Amino acid sequence: MNIIIKRSEREVSRAAADHTAALIREKPDAVLGLATGATPLGTYRELIRMHGKGLDFSRIVTFNLDEYIGYGMDLSRPYSKDQSYARFMHEELFRHINIHRSNIHIPNGLADDPKEECRRYERRIRDAGGIDLQLLGIGRTGHWAFNEPGTPLDSRTHIQILSKKTLDDNFRLFFHRSGLEREMMPTRSITMGVGTILEARSLLMIATGKRKASITAAALEGEITSSLTASAVQLFKGPATVLLDRGAAFALQKR
Ligand code: PGA
Repeated sequence: MNIIIKRSEREVSRAAADHTAALIREKPDAVLGLATGATPLGTYRELIRMHGKGLDFSRIVTFNLDEYIGYGMDLSRPYSKDQSYARFMHEELFRHINIHRSNIHIPNGLADDPKEECRRYERRIRDAGGIDLQLLGIGRTGHWAFNEPGTPLDSRTHIQILSKKTLDDNFRLFFHRSGLEREMMPTRSITMGVGTILEARSLLMIATGKRKASITAAALEGEITSSLTASAVQLFKGPATVLLDRGAAFALQKR
């Protein structure tokens, strides 16, 4: 695991985009695992800027980590009412780059049979040849994707009940704009499992801000446990790059 500490969130975003762009140039048909949330926004902005200067996404394939059940891509709904991760990705990245719609994969939170959708998602990742680079954040519960405390470290794509802490964070960051009451937020999601994530060929984990400091230190330096699913990064066998700003690196002991 290569832990890199940058001076600012901006530098983290730049470094994460450079890392991703290097793979795209080396392997123009790479399979990228993508994440949502506040953390990767700067990275996506940088990738969009690089696309403006010629970075080509025309053969890139993507798999997102997760989606709320009951939500999905429905472009007929006004943005403010649709807080799906599909919409988030469309607004924050996909509509600004030359990626093919058919190469984009996000769990379908509107599927009639969410369990079958989980199986289908696993099959699609396998059929695409696996994920070359998985981008990851870390939630305040220590989650990777929506793998909340208690999720087994060998879990596959599954239906996940969201913790109160995660719902509070996501309400504050995203749902408050939607006009939805906190109580009306979706409480279930489809998420890639920790085991699914660990099968990626490389990982790029990013965390910024002091509010992530203690959970980041616990994930990187503490016990490997399903109570903190991002601690699975320590189990990862391939190359894992962890990019932190000074705030998120604040509580690390071994540096
Ligand atoms: P955040 O979420 O980027 O919105 O803080 C991180 C995560 O849940 O992985």
